Amino acid sequence: MPNPTSKRPALFIERMMPVQLLNEQVYYEHGGNPFKGLHRWYSRKPLSFSRASVLASLLPADVTMQEFEYLLGLEPGKEVKLYKTPPSSVRIKKVQDYCEKVWGTRTPTVLDAFAGGGSIPFEAARYGLNVLASDLNPVAVVTMKAAMEYPLKFGPDLQQDIDKWVKWVGDEAEKRLAEFFPSNPGETVLYYLWAHTVVCPNCKSVVPLCPTWWIYNRPEKQNWHRWCAIKPISDPEGKQIKLEMIRGNKGKVRTILTPRASPCQNGKIVR
Ligand SMILES: C[S@@+](CC[C@H](N)C(=O)[O-])C[C@H]1O[C@@H](n2cnc3c(N)ncnc32)[C@H](O)[C@@H]1O
Repeated sequence: MPNPTSKRPALFIERMMPVQLLNEQVYYEHGGNPFKGLHRWYSRKPLSFSRASVLASLLPADVTMQEFEYLLGLEPGKEVKLYKTPPSSVRIKKVQDYCEKVWGTRTPTVLDAFAGGGSIPFEAARYGLNVLASDLNPVAVVTMKAAMEYPLKFGPDLQQDIDKWVKWVGDEAEKRLAEFFPSNPGETVLYYLWAHTVVCPNCKSVVPLCPTWWIYNRPEKQNWHRWCAIKPISDPEGKQIKLEMIRGNKGKVRTILTPRASPCQNGKIVR
């Protein structure tokens, strides 16, 4: 409810919010929102809802629902997905005109002190507003710098630097970690499995502690020919457990029916 003692006019968000319409927009963001791809964040809010929250907190209460929807970026009779539709320059100008009337400046400061993945500051920045964002967690702060501050500050040239340093990190990680991920010449290693090991007090063999020996036992019918698992074979003389890969069709319950064994060394699964 509007605060009767406040000097500012009542705001849109104090009067109404098009929740049903926004539910529809939020649905579009499931799975496909590239903004979420930069870094996972807990409880990252949908961009469409964040945009509506920013606008509804800035615009006066007498803006009609029709105009609010327009300023959000929606168009009657057209399917617009807000999260991937930046507001047009005309809409940005109109929002800033309202801001001037309500707040005395075209670009009021939007502060999100618990900004997390940055959805609210991102949408505020899309309307050219002045944005301050912070978070207790430094990972969130770095993610927001990468997603908003640096692109706005350095423009498209930043892409070249990103490509260069992403490659550097990748190359460096590969070099430094190579000894932990061995492969034989000509092999393409798809996955490595690792396990803690203990030495058996009786036979003195090194025994891997694995919660499961299954590699693939998905229940889909069309994949029943692809089931595979690791078979541990005791090698008391070598003081170790040898590993063999068993591939085949699904058998009864959770068994492999027609195993075709292929050797698997050091727990590596090879193509
Ligand atoms: C629900 S999340 C915010 C989600 C955000 N609106 C988004 O769309 O990604 C809440 C955030 O508040 C942060 N937080 C919790 N306590 C805080 C504090 N005392 N000061 C600043 N940030 C805090 C958490 O690290 C978390 O990122």
